[in-house]
Amino acid sequence: MTTAIQDADTVLGVPTITPDVYPPQHDSALLIDVMRSTGRVPGNRVADLCTGSGVVGLAAAATGAADVTALDLSADAVRCARGNAAAAGLNVDVHLGSWARAVEFGPFDVVTCNPPYVPFDDGADVVPIAGPSTAWNAGRDGRLVLDPLCENVPSMLADGGTVLIVQSEFAGIGATVRALRAAGLRADVVAEQLIPFGPVMSARAEWLEREGLLPRGRREEWIAVIRGDVR
Ligand SMILES: C[S@@+](CC[C@H](N)C(=O)[O-])C[C@H]1O[C@@H](n2cnc3c(N)ncnc32)[C@H](O)[C@@H]1O
Repeated sequence: MTTAIQDADTVLGVPTITPDVYPPQHDSALLIDVMRSTGRVPGNRVADLCTGSGVVGLAAAATGAADVTALDLSADAVRCARGNAAAAGLNVDVHLGSWARAVEFGPFDVVTCNPPYVPFDDGADVVPIAGPSTAWNAGRDGRLVLDPLCENVPSMLADGGTVLIVQSEFAGIGATVRALRAAGLRADVVAEQLIPFGPVMSARAEWLEREGLLPRGRREEWIAVIRGDVR
């Protein structure tokens, strides 16, 4: 297992974002760092699901991917990612729609995803500086996207293909490993990083404490990248 400690700015090259788009954060940086370290991107087909600003897809293109397909449910994100790709002179094919549509464009050698994974508090907080709530809210257990993604991602992967998913401990890292294995992939945690709470988790901390999901007073979380490989 590797432990990536790089700060977001050092690996991202920080693309332009708009207020309605998730700004690249530690999770984005950890995913990019791991993606690059696999050596699986150059010359291969990559899909970046839940692309947001496009930062992970752009990094794949800059790392020499044969082609990059990116998807996001948000029209603002799609516009932003397309603009960032054009500004960087990188070829990323950005589509509006659910991550599940990736199967239409595959199969892929590498699939990356930084999905919404924050457990949802129906007391609903507003944290405008962290982008729209659809970028992080993921049901009461944080697995609204993770569970169907793990189940369906094998259908997007080519022979020998690899999926890389980043998420927080609060959405069940072990549950993702088990779900990918149940879907027929080899799967393990390949990177972990302890990070301070960002604006969303800070706003939700008291609710997480009340739910018994967070020890009182703790304001940091482990994030992890889980890798799955076609057997
Ligand atoms: C945590 S952000 C990640 C953004 C970017 N990949 C990054 O790493 O910085 C999650 C993104 O998923 C998008 N999203 C949420 N639900 C989705 C779905 N069902 N299908 C596709 N995109 C989705 C949101 O619009 C948001 O842009």
